[in-house]
Amino acid sequence: MDDTQDLQNVQIELAMLAETVFRKYGYDFRDYSEAHLRRRIKHAMQKLNAPSISALQHEILYDKACFDLVLKELSINVTEMFRDPSFYRLLREEIIPTLKTYPFVKIWHAGCASGEEVYSMAILLKEEGLYDKAQIYATDFNARVLQQAKEAIFPIELIKEYTANYIAAGGRQDFSDYYTAAYDSIILSKSLRERIVFSDHNLATDTVFGEMHMVICRNVMIYFNQELQDRVVKLFADSLCYRGILCLGSKESLKFNANAALFEAISETEKVYKKTGRQ
Ligand SMILES: C[S@@+](CC[C@H](N)C(=O)[O-])C[C@H]1O[C@@H](n2cnc3c(N)ncnc32)[C@H](O)[C@@H]1O
Repeated sequence: MDDTQDLQNVQIELAMLAETVFRKYGYDFRDYSEAHLRRRIKHAMQKLNAPSISALQHEILYDKACFDLVLKELSINVTEMFRDPSFYRLLREEIIPTLKTYPFVKIWHAGCASGEEVYSMAILLKEEGLYDKAQIYATDFNARVLQQAKEAIFPIELIKEYTANYIAAGGRQDFSDYYTAAYDSIILSKSLRERIVFSDHNLATDTVFGEMHMVICRNVMIYFNQELQDRVVKLFADSLCYRGILCLGSKESLKFNANAALFEAISETEKVYKKTGRQ
């Protein structure tokens, strides 16, 4: 069998596995990027000692525990507080002053993972005097990480890195003002959790979340194929008010998106866009 046929067989097996997952468990990975699926499924096969993609597909069909492991593999949950500090600096200096002119601000973090990004936003809003008139919605399709996010407990060994990020992001206080340390963990202060609602939402299958002033979806669409990216950006456009702000991850862009014309770049470097088109 030549390389082309091998590749074609892998593509067929991956598509069948994604179809099985969707039909059996309702999670839709059919429009995730093929490179991502291939990498993560290979990893799951090694962990579960599955000799082939088809064998893994069979396991998934009959064993929920096997599906849970595959779900964990497919939803990469890597995150950090004040990730890409220059992005938060731009929000602080250029976006929040405009948001402050609104009587009330609604912000949606889509694909929030274990919440570090959302709490970074809560700190930023507090320091800029916007927190009390803000409502933050934080969603993910992975129940396990959402639970972690609600608890707001993070390993203490990450604090050094998070503090450095916070300072680089223009933080105005002492970062330790925002948490209490206990043994090998920290818990974020209760006041940072007051205005956040965590909930389950799947960007591939669920609909508009409500009318938002800002949508932050960073390092999520990178795992989607172009068609799903197009659909999700349309979902964000439908969720944003006129002149609402869309923030993407550093490796993501609207450049090749079918709905790019609905937005104008505020910063192509920080991947911050403003909705200017009306639909
Ligand atoms: C790499 S993390 C990014 C976390 C955070 N936004 C950041 O940039 O630090 C990607 C997150 O997207 C979530 N995700 C992936 N596909 C999703 C989907 N279809 N709907 C909702 N969340 C999804 C994963 O569960 C994961 O928590």
